Amino acid sequence: MALTDSIPNNVDLTSDRKLLRALEKWQPNFLQWWKEMGPDGFQTSDIYLRTAIDVDPSGWATYDYVKMPDYRWGIFLTPSKGDRFVNFGDSAGTEAWSEVPGELRGILRRIIVTQADTEPASVEQQRQLGSTAPSLYDLRNLFQVNVEEGRHLWAMVHLLHQYFGRDGREEAEALLERRSGDADKPRILQTFNEPTDEWLSFFCFTMFTDRDGKYQLAALSESGFDPLARATQFMLTEESFHLFTGETGLERVVRRACELTKQDPNGDARAQGGIDLPTIQKWINFWFSSAVELFGGEISSNAADYFATGLKGRYREAGKYEDHRALDEIYSMPVLEGGKVHQKEVPLRNALNEVLRDEYVSDCERAVRRWNRAIEEQGLAFRLHLPNRRFNRSLGIYASGSFDLEGQPISSDEFEAHRAEWLPTEEDRAYVRSLMKPVYEPGQFANWISPPKKGVYQQPLDFEFVRLDAN
Ligand SMILES: [Fe+2]
Ligand SMILES: [Fe+2]
Repeated sequence: MALTDSIPNNVDLTSDRKLLRALEKWQPNFLQWWKEMGPDGFQTSDIYLRTAIDVDPSGWATYDYVKMPDYRWGIFLTPSKGDRFVNFGDSAGTEAWSEVPGELRGILRRIIVTQADTEPASVEQQRQLGSTAPSLYDLRNLFQVNVEEGRHLWAMVHLLHQYFGRDGREEAEALLERRSGDADKPRILQTFNEPTDEWLSFFCFTMFTDRDGKYQLAALSESGFDPLARATQFMLTEESFHLFTGETGLERVVRRACELTKQDPNGDARAQGGIDLPTIQKWINFWFSSAVELFGGEISSNAADYFATGLKGRYREAGKYEDHRALDEIYSMPVLEGGKVHQKEVPLRNALNEVLRDEYVSDCERAVRRWNRAIEEQGLAFRLHLPNRRFNRSLGIYASGSFDLEGQPISSDEFEAHRAEWLPTEEDRAYVRSLMKPVYEPGQFANWISPPKKGVYQQPLDFEFVRLDAN
């Protein structure tokens, strides 16, 4: 089969022989990586998957049984809507670039490689989860997320191959060589080296870590480099399913925690074989504090450069803001000085990581309100909270101090004294892992999680989302 048949695309691969050859060389290495580092097992199972086949909003995906190695990883850019302009920064209003401007080559390559690296990293982090899936529905969703992260890698590799010549090809190879959690060749960002070896962490990952991805992609979708803007726009359409998986997954664990709490004579969901609400809170504390690091330093000259040069905008830059140069504005942020938190004024361009983090935090707060409504509906007084963004940081301006869940400065001794109460302990992790037993009967769900409200693509909940014994 010719490569163009196996890669659905709207970038006219057939007419670009050089690009085609480069991708032809990369494809077997990708498949080799998928076999080694993709989901462990299930490679011969038929999975009810969505495949992107087009960019038309009404019909961009098909749903059918596919074996994962046969998934058609495609390359799609959202079509341009007429002339595009640089939407922000020093050259706001000039024509967008369809080639890489020479002076931006280095930083643009670094932005693309950093984004690209997270895609295979998350697949590696999640590769053992299939053996403990709480249902066929969840198993299928895991694999859907995994194949789409693979497609996102393709999307970024296409840019590297098409626009960065030999450097780009080398970066594309290196993306298949780094390994999540590997001591010698780790993935670039630390969160993507954390193991995701049980399902509560998987839901937290898709809720909190993938959601960072949404905001990074949204900022890049404003980019003056038109191919990057259009590639990330289309990635966002797939990404929303990953976020759905995390947000609704956590909601289902919360619902079940409430039911088991009420069933138990002592109000102890663990005694009923479930995950209790305080444990869920600790996972939220851990994963949220890990994910907020991904936005980068609070005061950042890199962020200012990315904005000034038109590479990376604010969330919904074009629609939401009037002053796209943001030269004179200031941003007031809390900083730690002399053991106290006080407000400091920073030029807005230097605070753009924090501006993006603000969008992220309020989106996460919205999700927490949704989970709390579920708890309230069941008549329990417990409420979940997002920790303050200063809590448990190892990067940025808050890393030098210690903060409680409300963001108040405390001594590192106080932090350590509360550690086991605020963050997952080894015992907690062992307990959660002990619950992870696979449930592969159609329509059945593990005891620690509620069924979802509905199936996938109008299929009922007892649909066989994964045919395990396919050959
Ligand atoms: Fe992704
Ligand atoms: Fe994702």
